[in-house]
Amino acid sequence: MSRSNRSDRQNERWIAGAGTLGAGKDWHSFAGLAMESAVRAPGSIPVESGGAGGIRLGELPAKWRLGVWETNGYPAGAPNEHQENPSVRPKGGRVSGVGRVDLKRMAGEAALSHVESGMRLGLGSGSTSEAFIRALGVRVAEGLQIVGVPTSERVAALATSLSIPLSTLDETPELNLTIDGADEIGPDLALIKGGGGALLREKIVATASRRMIVIADASKLVDTLGAFPLPIEVAPFGLTVTRAKIAAAAERLGLLGNLALRKTDTGAPYITDGGHFILDASFRRIPRPEALAKALEAIPGVVEHGLFIGIASLAIVAHPTGIETITR
Ligand code: 5RP
Repeated sequence: MSRSNRSDRQNERWIAGAGTLGAGKDWHSFAGLAMESAVRAPGSIPVESGGAGGIRLGELPAKWRLGVWETNGYPAGAPNEHQENPSVRPKGGRVSGVGRVDLKRMAGEAALSHVESGMRLGLGSGSTSEAFIRALGVRVAEGLQIVGVPTSERVAALATSLSIPLSTLDETPELNLTIDGADEIGPDLALIKGGGGALLREKIVATASRRMIVIADASKLVDTLGAFPLPIEVAPFGLTVTRAKIAAAAERLGLLGNLALRKTDTGAPYITDGGHFILDASFRRIPRPEALAKALEAIPGVVEHGLFIGIASLAIVAHPTGIETITR
């Protein structure tokens, strides 16, 4: 994985570029107050984008359009991140506030530079993915030709409201690129996903894609996965047995923690788009995610788990000081 020490990079690259909003070659980032003007200012904003061949400078779409950033600019009826019901999401050491919404938008918008006309795109779920999809909707309205495969019913509704052409994975089984968010981004771009409950479709879509790019605000970066409870999608049939098998398998790996059945506001079990339950496993630290993934996959009642290992090849991470890219 190519990723320099975060604080070194901030010192060497980002802070050095802070406040420079022009389109000059050395422009890599912008700091707090400048960010606010940058996301609203028309004009082109170069961003750093990594790749297997090293860091290069790419361009964000020519216009950071005002309408993309304003809730009241969304089409009537389109869901937006302020409407997301946080009560179904497990708590996981997140920060909140307007700044974080802006960071999600920055990450989503930065991902647009990887989208090309003619692509078949997997559309991830969650508020960061939705920021990307709204920005994508603007480009589609301008003439960009893509077809999207949504990872949840919610995202399908959002994309439809934005007139983004959609397909299914059965009609379009080979995708060029999936862009999706994450609950945690660990070493080697191992991810925890599924906070929004869409992990099964997200994993099916991501692994049907040549590439997956993960987009996130900086609070998602971790040294060890597991502070965010790991979502494990299970069949409702035999829940008690499956839960006991998960607990035993985890214990063999030295992992202890509550396996909470995810519930909705009403106290009823949360049901995924696929008709399954989710257990949120609070292991706190998962030092060997590969071993846990293998153990979970051997349990019959486990439909899927939220460990995405070896799937994402690029992360676009928005910090208050600018965009960081991490490649694997
Ligand atoms: C949904 C997911 C999301 O990508 C993940 O929960 C991140 O969500 P957000 O962008 O809202 O923080 O995995 O199942």
